Amino acid sequence: MCGIVGAVAQNNVIPILIEGLKRLEYRGYDSCGIAVHLDRKLQRSRSTSRVADLEKQLATSGLTGFTGIAHTRWATHGAPVTHNAHPHFSRDRIALVHNGIIENHDDLRAELQALGYVFESQTDTEVIAHLVDHMYTGDLFETVQQAIKRLTGAYAIAVFSADEPHRVVAARQGSPLIVGLGDGQNFVASDAMAIAGTTDQIIYLEEGDVVDLQLQRVWIVDVNGRSVEREVKTVQAYSSAVELGPYQHYMQKEIFEQPRAIADTLEGVVNIMPELFGDKAFSVFQQIDSVLILACGTSYYAGLTAKYWLESVAKIPANVEIASEYRYRDSVPNPNTLVVTITQSGETADTLAAVKHARSLGMLHTLTICNAATSAMVRECALAYITRAGVEVGVASTKAFTTQLVGLFLLTLAIAQSKNRLSEEQEQAHLKALRHLPAALQSVLALEPHIVAWAEAFARKENALFLGRGMHYPIALEGALKLKEITYIHAEAYAAGELKHGPLALVTEEMPVVTIAPNDTLIEKLKSNMQEVRARGGQLYVFADADSHISPSEGVHVIRLPENYGLLSPILHVVPLQLLAYHTALARGTDVDKPRNLAKSVTVE
Ligand code: G6P
Repeated sequence: MCGIVGAVAQNNVIPILIEGLKRLEYRGYDSCGIAVHLDRKLQRSRSTSRVADLEKQLATSGLTGFTGIAHTRWATHGAPVTHNAHPHFSRDRIALVHNGIIENHDDLRAELQALGYVFESQTDTEVIAHLVDHMYTGDLFETVQQAIKRLTGAYAIAVFSADEPHRVVAARQGSPLIVGLGDGQNFVASDAMAIAGTTDQIIYLEEGDVVDLQLQRVWIVDVNGRSVEREVKTVQAYSSAVELGPYQHYMQKEIFEQPRAIADTLEGVVNIMPELFGDKAFSVFQQIDSVLILACGTSYYAGLTAKYWLESVAKIPANVEIASEYRYRDSVPNPNTLVVTITQSGETADTLAAVKHARSLGMLHTLTICNAATSAMVRECALAYITRAGVEVGVASTKAFTTQLVGLFLLTLAIAQSKNRLSEEQEQAHLKALRHLPAALQSVLALEPHIVAWAEAFARKENALFLGRGMHYPIALEGALKLKEITYIHAEAYAAGELKHGPLALVTEEMPVVTIAPNDTLIEKLKSNMQEVRARGGQLYVFADADSHISPSEGVHVIRLPENYGLLSPILHVVPLQLLAYHTALARGTDVDKPRNLAKSVTVE
């Protein structure tokens, strides 16, 4: 993953680069660094702590420069130690930052070592820095165009030379990169948010593009070396949306923003219409005979939930696949399938590759449920529904997930309507339930004090089981994922009926078993599964709908949700699980918003 930002300006670029890094930390935070051009020399500062630490380091050193590049790292090749932190230098002439993976780095390293280059890091990135230095002609733009021809893999790079002040050259292949146009200053970054507030004039570079950034001009060539004009877009600056406000953590803020995020996502939905997904959606929905959902992580669990809706409401067969698996397996393509990607960021490398793979197999009907309107995924898919969660900063996804579910429910209704499987009366009932969601979520959020009490007990555990049935099974999976992501407690989720086929062996008096108990048609079956746990001494922590008739007793702890919410119940039941993970993490003192080893946006495979 990693985040890149670079600037060519007439003033000191350090403040812009530091601000950019802070906004790019969601892409990884194992280490960070900045290099600037000063008096025809390269200067750099690196830290294996967070950007705030780098900022302090720079304030002390007083480093300044008018041309610079910066990087925040998610380690792939080499441990997160200072000598592996970017920017990497070659012979004190070339400075380079990189996002992605260079697959032929071993061969190139051997070649460059034979030429006398000495490597200081274990990274694949340093290989590019030495390669650029080795091929350097005195014209960095020309050199980078030639050097990238030697690279295999995915990358976005930004590079400058001690010999060429006021010039940064950048290139992308498989990893995102944008150019920001300013007045007498220009920028390059992994995303537009990095430079929001400095400029809103953005160019989204295309695969294979190389850009020459100077003070007064920006020159782009495409993959064939031909000069190209790319559209300049005005992108709304959303810097204020990432303020923490009265909250202690972004995750907490984002959990509590869910009523607003869902209301915003539903804004403009007056009636159910296929056109919510694009002009051509109606004819596409009429043609399709199945749905294939591709996603990763939390978004994958949103997809698993939607499968229940699609098959029960729209009566259309739906498959859900982990994007990184689908892209590499042999599958049987059906051209009448609607391929749906779900992605918060719109930049996840595996999901992007999976939809391209589906298209290469002749499946041309593509649709994305995405939270980033200008992302690569929205550009990639023919149809789209943009969720309005707002920027999600916490690495553990919360409001993005619940708004994805809203988008997927709308998709279910729109497909059902296009196929005449939705009466006017049903449509109105579903719309009413959707519109009541923000208020219903407020009542669930009000349960927080009860959950805090449970979190104390969870904080002392190293294992937990989560049980759910039917469309709440994916919610159990998501609850377990939340807990492991931010508390590092080993948590596993099972469809409750599977308990007896293995996981029951794990149940002892030490094992907390979180159970999602909506008052649906499976409630009696679930109660039997709960008995199986109690008979082995397991401690049940049950989130039950008010009318589920489940009462607290010895070893059975119960928190009641105010109402049964029918088909939309997964959207409510996930919220207490988010709060449980959050408060357990607080009690354990882990880094809630930036859990170890993870990143918000995963742009490597
Ligand atoms: C990362 C994030 C997860 C997210 C997943 C998929 O692993 O930490 O929260 O669910 O990527 O991301 P996407 O942007 O495609 O939804």
